[in-house]
Amino acid sequence: MGALTGKVAIVTGAGQGVGRCHAELLAAEGAAVVVNDLGESADAVAAAIVANGGRAVAQRGSVTDWSAAEALVQRAINEFGDLHILVNNAGFIRDAMSFSMEEQQFDSVVSVHLKGHFAPAHFAAVYWRNQAKVLEGTEGGLPQRRIINTTSESGLFGGPGQGNYGSAKGGIITMTTILARELGRYNVTVNCIAPRARTPMTEVNPKFTKPESGFDKYDPANISPMVAFLASDHASDINAQTFIVLGDQVHRIRPTEIANSLTGGDKQWTVEGLAAAKDQLFGGSPSGVPAWGGPPM
Ligand SMILES: NC(=O)c1ccc[n+]([C@@H]2O[C@H](COP(=O)([O-])OP(=O)(O)OC[C@H]3O[C@@H](n4cnc5c(N)ncnc54)[C@H](O)[C@@H]3O)[C@@H](O)[C@H]2O)c1
Repeated sequence: MGALTGKVAIVTGAGQGVGRCHAELLAAEGAAVVVNDLGESADAVAAAIVANGGRAVAQRGSVTDWSAAEALVQRAINEFGDLHILVNNAGFIRDAMSFSMEEQQFDSVVSVHLKGHFAPAHFAAVYWRNQAKVLEGTEGGLPQRRIINTTSESGLFGGPGQGNYGSAKGGIITMTTILARELGRYNVTVNCIAPRARTPMTEVNPKFTKPESGFDKYDPANISPMVAFLASDHASDINAQTFIVLGDQVHRIRPTEIANSLTGGDKQWTVEGLAAAKDQLFGGSPSGVPAWGGPPM
């Protein structure tokens, strides 16, 4: 029996790359999987899972399309009778510096990541809330539900040339916390991963090249065990958390917290007062652009 036997999962953008690996591992762990992507790559991945003895169907459609997102959630329910796990993964990059970015580059990337995460989550939440009304207090209680979102190190640390992508990915971390606060009462946990792997999105970078021997650090399949773990009942106490996942590494990100505070003694601050208290606010910490906080390549 796999860690996800009896569960029903959706993976968005699962026609290739990291999403494909998630869909394959979730299926290998026993989940029935709805494989989403824009076109026929979704069909191919679903067919490969079925050929391997797993349960999967393809659902083509854009995660930025509100009604396609509704149809995606409905497909899981119609096909497999329920929905337990939503893995929001679909996305693309259109990098440019702020002074070169075009409107379409900005809008499309913000949409695919932010709306493309929110729209499936919205329809999953509608279903789970309605289900909770029916199931609450019954003998079986509420099933465990999961959303696993996909951010990026650019969203955590701010990648230059990614004012569209990094901002949207940062928003996904906040969206994760918001959804976790809203949906906990329906037995839903919401967590977030920042993967780093060799995929069509990153393979132009020679640092991701597969080594001739030894551990293939940037094999996209290295990311998926963390997703399957977060999707499983083992992770029922993990909520609103973010992890960087690459190779053999999992890094937990410390939640945002207040570092230092000033209080004005029931008086409005003045500019001069803030200037004088500046060192106290930083408490010896650097006050400029923070160092990149991600693990080395
Ligand atoms: N590969 C990395 O190192 C890396 C690093 C940080 C974050 N990520 C994130 O991981 C996720 C997967 O990236 P990947 O590297 O596997 O990329 P990828 O390009 O290989 O795969 C992304 C998939 O999403 C699909 N997609 C794009 N727009 C879609 C839409 N509107 N609706 C449905 N599907 C859509 C694409 O067709 C593609 O199959 C993305 O959210 C990406 O931003 C990846």
